[in-house]
Amino acid sequence: MSQNLPVTKRRLLTTAAAAVTAVALPAPFIRRASAAPMRIGVYLPYSGVFTSLGTKITNALELALAENNNKLGGREVELLKIDSEADPSKAPERMVRFIGQGAEIIIGPVHSGVALGMIRVLQNQNTTLIIPNAGAGAATGELCAPNIFRTSFTNWQPAWPMGKIMHERGARRAMSISWNYAAGQESVAGLRQGFEENGGEIVDEILAPFPTVEFQSYMPEIAASDVDAVYTFFSGASAVQFIRQYHEAGLDRNIPLYAVGFLTEGTLDGLEEIAEGLETTMHYADDLPLEANRRFRAAYQDRFGVAADVYAVQGYDTGRLLVHALAQVDGDTGDAAKLQAALRSFEAADSPRGAWRFSRAQNPIQDIYLRRVSDGINRYQGVAAAQVEDPGTGCAL
Ligand code: BEZ
Repeated sequence: MSQNLPVTKRRLLTTAAAAVTAVALPAPFIRRASAAPMRIGVYLPYSGVFTSLGTKITNALELALAENNNKLGGREVELLKIDSEADPSKAPERMVRFIGQGAEIIIGPVHSGVALGMIRVLQNQNTTLIIPNAGAGAATGELCAPNIFRTSFTNWQPAWPMGKIMHERGARRAMSISWNYAAGQESVAGLRQGFEENGGEIVDEILAPFPTVEFQSYMPEIAASDVDAVYTFFSGASAVQFIRQYHEAGLDRNIPLYAVGFLTEGTLDGLEEIAEGLETTMHYADDLPLEANRRFRAAYQDRFGVAADVYAVQGYDTGRLLVHALAQVDGDTGDAAKLQAALRSFEAADSPRGAWRFSRAQNPIQDIYLRRVSDGINRYQGVAAAQVEDPGTGCAL
């Protein structure tokens, strides 16, 4: 990967990595179980197109901590929050800053490129990284490490089962439109694999620059193509605009749109009938018929006055993971191997998304559901693929 980085960025990473070695040396007064609050760095987007994603993850993380009296392993918790701005170039130096501030655990990010920037500094360090969204395959693939955990998904996971669904709906020749960075590219690759395994063909791929919200210029190409389905990966504020502009171009009347569920997560308010009927695949559905889901959604709505979504679920599960692991080590983050073993032993039996556990590469093995937008929510239609495990290619754990 680093071979592809521009020289300036490579230099920045090298400098950041050198700096982290200096500040990551044992700091016993911080890392031993003590009465001192446990510092957790939270690196999520609080501005830009992913603002709602970062906010939902943070809210639900705080909900999970509040349900445990804001303590982990008996210690008070202090969250150190930095806006990631969904900007990969800023991630390495900010990880160095977190470590300098005594962060014992770091949670983040949303954006796959930011995750790769964080990992350049944090890989194989004593500080544990828990990724509550970013799906970059490399994080639990070739860049995996004992201190890197993910509570969300790989970009491949929800995309691959959609290939079969599209084929079942009659699509044979499809095209894709997604963002031109790891998440979009990997999502389309997953879809392509699933679609081709079932006899379909992707005949065209459009890659739009991140974080554009302007898609009108791509609509003529889609309209002129001879395809019977369009697959897309967009999320947050851009997803709202994409659904709207696809409709305004009249394309939804002729070419069915399919997507991974990020397109319709937290984006449906205000879209009303425009989004009705959209089918997506995801590791969550709003009305998933589980008592744990009903309980979580009620608690989230009660506390924050808005509905939960998949990002909230990922934040909540991250909090539950911390509660479990820190209880096992009595709040002591000083023995990295012991903490990592405690994290690995987490079994999310009562997650709002359904049961999941960590794979060898420390990524969730989980059900992927088919959902359909109906009355403004992502309604559960069934299990699209059960207990899907990302292959973790290149991970030697
Ligand atoms: C990503 O960059 O990995 C990502 C961003 C938003 C939603 C899903 C994935």
